[in-house]
Amino acid sequence: MPLRVVIGVGGGIAAYKAAHLVRYFTEKGHHVNVIPTPSALKFVGAATFEALSGHPVSTDVFDSVDEVQHVRLGQEADLIVIAPATADLMARLAGGRADDLLTSSCLVATCPIVLAPAMHTEMWENPATTANVATLRKRGIVVLEPSHGRLTGKDTGPGRLPEPDHIGTLALAVARCGASAFDHSLEGRKVVITAGGTVEPLDPVRFLSNASSGRQGFALADVAAQRGAQVTIIQARTEPLPTPSGATIVPAMSALELKAAVDEHAQDADVVIMAAAVADYRPVNAAASKMKKGANDTDLSTLELTENPDILAALVKQREAGAIDAETVIVGFAAETGDDKSTPLEHGIRKLAKKGCDLLMCNAVGDGRVFGQEDNAGWLLTAGESADKPVITEVHTGPKLDIAVQMWNAVETLMNER
Ligand code: CTP
Repeated sequence: MPLRVVIGVGGGIAAYKAAHLVRYFTEKGHHVNVIPTPSALKFVGAATFEALSGHPVSTDVFDSVDEVQHVRLGQEADLIVIAPATADLMARLAGGRADDLLTSSCLVATCPIVLAPAMHTEMWENPATTANVATLRKRGIVVLEPSHGRLTGKDTGPGRLPEPDHIGTLALAVARCGASAFDHSLEGRKVVITAGGTVEPLDPVRFLSNASSGRQGFALADVAAQRGAQVTIIQARTEPLPTPSGATIVPAMSALELKAAVDEHAQDADVVIMAAAVADYRPVNAAASKMKKGANDTDLSTLELTENPDILAALVKQREAGAIDAETVIVGFAAETGDDKSTPLEHGIRKLAKKGCDLLMCNAVGDGRVFGQEDNAGWLLTAGESADKPVITEVHTGPKLDIAVQMWNAVETLMNER
């Protein structure tokens, strides 16, 4: 269903990215009104926003007074997204000011409000900004974590505006799931998430892999990052995906590399989620140079394979042995097609018992479902008293970010029980 989206634009150099954000929403069929602050118009002209949104643009509460515009746009909005949100704009919002059309619109709005801050690292980390952000979050306003990277001058660090499509995707998740999707409930927690399909080399140009896109793993990382966690993504082969704000990326292509990375990073983690599709087998020998067809010493018609370690099951054993913290929550996935004897859910229940993890997301795959798709569905299985009789929660088809929100809610329930 099309939403009425108000895009607020603060006066920062990243204001030019707001033009792309307007495009993102209009191309998805939503109705967009842009409200820049007066200083935002020093960076991007009103004509740009008018052309892209198809609506007149004003900054002043005294424009269109006959339509009571200073309250109408905010009252009618389904979603307000402010990008970039400057330190000054957040201070004015935290102070409850209504000194321009954008702040007065926010004051009357009852819809979700999502702010995407952008500023120099010193401004972001200044205690005044920290206090304003905390105030806004306490009031249910979603303040996204800024990206880390190149800022306006020569400086780099936290404070960069995430890419517009990424902001749009996160803001729509808030519109669907509510502001609690990105509350700061994982502040101070360390989470490790594996994502993508492993790559098992045959020679320098060929490999065995699978259809995993890494989207579900990255969606889990996005939600954890926006909930304030310190996120490490152990990334196998994925589609190009935006890095969740502040996340550390550890590349690990093969199952053996992935295991080494998990073993290292799980040590002090509160949660480990094995979303990667790990190859069960790898070629016994990866040739150092390209294998040639018809060469005497290579037979390319058969492949000798050897089994990879089961990283998830090993992690559970390490926890049992006390090598990692007993309170670490361990989460697995099961992508199942079902067969003559068992449904995907029955396979998932057996896999939960076999792996011994605390929570398992079971997806029915095949026929183009799940892999590389925007949406996911399935069942969340919580081990409970006995692993072969888990608590089963059906997860209805929805965007992978929404599935990630539900999974984190379940993980946090387990964390709070420990
Ligand atoms: N997994 C793992 N190490 C492996 C294989 C799988 O850690 N060598 C993890 C995956 O990351 C996932 C879960 O185990 O979280 C289930 O993966 P899946 O491939 O479905 O399990 P398998 O044990 O390979 O079961 P099967 O091939 O029999 O379905």
